[in-house]
Amino acid sequence: MMEMMKFMRNQVKEVQDLWLPKIEAALDQYTADCGSLHPELLEAMRYSLLDAGKRIRPILVLEFCRAAGGEPENAMPFACGVEMIHSCSLIHDDLPCMDDDELRRGKASCHIKFGEDTALLAGDALQMLAFDVMLQADTVSPAQVVKATRALAHASGAAGMVGGQVIDLQNEGKQVSIEDLRQMDSGKTGAIIKAACVMGVIAADGSDEMMAIAEEYAENIGIAFQITDDILDVTSDTDTLGKPVASDIENDKSTYVSLLGLDKARQEAARHTALAVEAVAPLGEKAVFLTEFAKMLAGRIN
Ligand code: IPE
Ligand code: IPE
Ligand code: MG
Ligand code: MG
Ligand code: MG
Repeated sequence: MMEMMKFMRNQVKEVQDLWLPKIEAALDQYTADCGSLHPELLEAMRYSLLDAGKRIRPILVLEFCRAAGGEPENAMPFACGVEMIHSCSLIHDDLPCMDDDELRRGKASCHIKFGEDTALLAGDALQMLAFDVMLQADTVSPAQVVKATRALAHASGAAGMVGGQVIDLQNEGKQVSIEDLRQMDSGKTGAIIKAACVMGVIAADGSDEMMAIAEEYAENIGIAFQITDDILDVTSDTDTLGKPVASDIENDKSTYVSLLGLDKARQEAARHTALAVEAVAPLGEKAVFLTEFAKMLAGRIN
């Protein structure tokens, strides 16, 4: 039993070790080649995008492509696209008009380093580069590119991340219901995570069944991921987290922790993680990594 658990944990590390350098190299290349008209803009884009971050979303793209029977490397443009959108969302999330946080991924937030104007525009440029890169993908068919690009665009905008971020800001200082929180979290965090899993299946031209499994898994790890993020805001320290703790308290945010307390929030994260694990169980051996990844995310410390 112990041996088996060790094997599974090692599998997560092995997959991370495999993908992290490849994702980094691809992001490096795509940004270097993006044709930026201004060196400082490019510097700000690369400052926020490169050399940091857990790369959860690109790994989900690549591993869902594998689980759906595809060649994971073919999904690399989609993996980089989703990380660029995520990076844009973090730059904007930290701005004074949003969460007003001065630290991100262990260093000064983009607007602290480059100023608000450049940070805003670096976020915009990363967002556009995501689609530029995806639309150039020649590793999959044009129909797959269109499908994946649409999935990411839809998940990133008013119906997903941006919509959820607006709800988050409007919920500040309010006592909201669990249903409202769920809608906010599945928008601001869940939608992009779901798009990552879905794009992996699209890159593999996976079956409808596989798509349904990816959606169910993603919806649950998405909620669990934000609950864990909210827990860490209260329980962690700035050095470990690489971003300010107590940011949610300072901004009077509505979170699972503020609404339910730490214990119940932990239970909810565990419940959604178990639902995600259940969703991929029909995949048999192919579920091993996805299962352990979901558990690792729930137990993460940053
Ligand atoms: C942080 O995302 C923002 C949320 C959606 C909670 P991550 O925890 O994935 O941040 P990085 O990419 O590893 O820095
Ligand atoms: C932000 O949630 C989610 C997005 C960036 C879309 P948070 O505001 O809690 O993320 P952190 O804690 O700043 O990373
Ligand atoms: Mg926020
Ligand atoms: Mg924030
Ligand atoms: Mg947070």
